[in-house]
Amino acid sequence: MTDRKPFVAGNWKMNKTFAEARELVAAMLKPLSGIAGVEKVLCPPFTSIPVVASMLVGADVGLGAQNMHWEEKGAFTGELSPSMVKEFCAYIIIGHSERRAYFGETDEQVNKKLHAAMKIGLVPIVCVGETLDEYESGRTGEVVSRQIKLGFAGVDFASAQRIVIAYEPVWAIGTGKASSGENANEAVKQAIRRTLSATFNEAIAQSIRVLYGGSVTGSNAPEFFSQPEIDGALVGGASLKPDEFVAIVKAAA
Ligand code: 13P
Repeated sequence: MTDRKPFVAGNWKMNKTFAEARELVAAMLKPLSGIAGVEKVLCPPFTSIPVVASMLVGADVGLGAQNMHWEEKGAFTGELSPSMVKEFCAYIIIGHSERRAYFGETDEQVNKKLHAAMKIGLVPIVCVGETLDEYESGRTGEVVSRQIKLGFAGVDFASAQRIVIAYEPVWAIGTGKASSGENANEAVKQAIRRTLSATFNEAIAQSIRVLYGGSVTGSNAPEFFSQPEIDGALVGGASLKPDEFVAIVKAAA
């Protein structure tokens, strides 16, 4: 047994206007606040971050952004800096597979963002996971451990313990075909904790929270949360449905 605190984050992706965001948060804030013992985080699109931040004041629910640049300022049209994110948020999603697949984000860029997040004091939620092709050819371990090794390069031991990792097999994201709890647990154990142990040490590997992500719902969440290596979830589609998201957070408590 470990004392890792359960963690559930909702990644809204590119969904919800300002007005819709307000409605969504209003619908789930009260039930979410009533659930103790789980670290809860909402990650809306940038345009809704200020309004969600104002709604979360005094609530036991954190706020995160879905992406940021690693540079502090300058000629990077369309990007936001770590300190801009930090003005409103305590968490930052880094290296989501959609950023990697559609926007060409590399492990090296993930590493730069991770260092920038640590420097400014954001809690990084670093995403890793294999594609369907890599899964089917039995390369999950190799791919995920490479993502961890390169992504975490140069991170010091003290900082490493603050990082949250999301294991999101790409084939399970938005497909309705979640991994099985056992399969995800095995990947976390063999690919993630093992690599963390080799990179840092066993104590750090055991202290870092690792989430599962990919078609998590209120009904399959208990299967993941009952696995010894899985400490919570990074939720996409179901985080846009108040009842589903609340059910997932309850399952983690
Ligand atoms: P879904 O829950 O919609 O499959 O998305 C998972 C995800 O990518 C969360 O970051």
